[in-house]
Amino acid sequence: MQRKLAVANWKMNGTIEKLQDIESLTKIHQQSQVGIVICPPATLIYQAVQITNNSNLQIGGQNCHYDTSGPYTGDISADMLNNLGARYVIIGHSERRNSYDEQNEDVYARATAAINCNLTVIVCVGETAKQKKQNITLDVVVTQLKECIPNIQDARQLVIAYEPVWAIGTGKIPTINQIHLVHSHMRKQLNKRFGSEIASQICLLYGGSVNPHNATDIFAIPDVDGALVGNSSLFSQDFSSIIVALESSKF
Ligand code: 13P
Repeated sequence: MQRKLAVANWKMNGTIEKLQDIESLTKIHQQSQVGIVICPPATLIYQAVQITNNSNLQIGGQNCHYDTSGPYTGDISADMLNNLGARYVIIGHSERRNSYDEQNEDVYARATAAINCNLTVIVCVGETAKQKKQNITLDVVVTQLKECIPNIQDARQLVIAYEPVWAIGTGKIPTINQIHLVHSHMRKQLNKRFGSEIASQICLLYGGSVNPHNATDIFAIPDVDGALVGNSSLFSQDFSSIIVALESSKF
């Protein structure tokens, strides 16, 4: 059975004081049976790793370059994240796809680099509002899975986050049935590609306006193994409630 995972994506939020939130989460959830990952801005990763050493929280980056080092001003490599003690990295978030025109092939190259540096890659997929209207959600997601995900040997190398673009930061979420449909379809695709032994253990997250009020219903959906949380993860009590909802969900 795949591990349940609650991932906080802080995006471009948080300065040094915000590290206190991580410290309190390590205390509150020290006995947690679910995986907890915080992806703070790169500027906080080193200290966040020090705080979470000897706890069951882990730290992740929000992006990485496809190359190990070189003339890429402003970029960070997977190797550098690993060197800091990060264990995860989010790749292909729709905000990166939109703002920096990252295409599926970029996502694939970055995800490959991350896996080669022993990071667990969290690959984001999801349809835009226009694609949803056109009724092509499943096609979009299948293509993204095909084009973004490198080969893996072990389910622990990969996490997939289904994040409908129109649900991010809007307070809107798909219906329970829609989420179920996409997640079970993703599992089927992964089965075809990696075989059931690996596919059944890949962690599939839902992301987009997850909050303490909707988390329990979302975690009750088959094939939803956790959440990638933006806004609500910036309030440690809210993120904590989401973790508790995941802990209480059926394994
Ligand atoms: P919100 O939870 O703010 O909708 O953001 C989701 C997200 O983008 C997580 O990566």
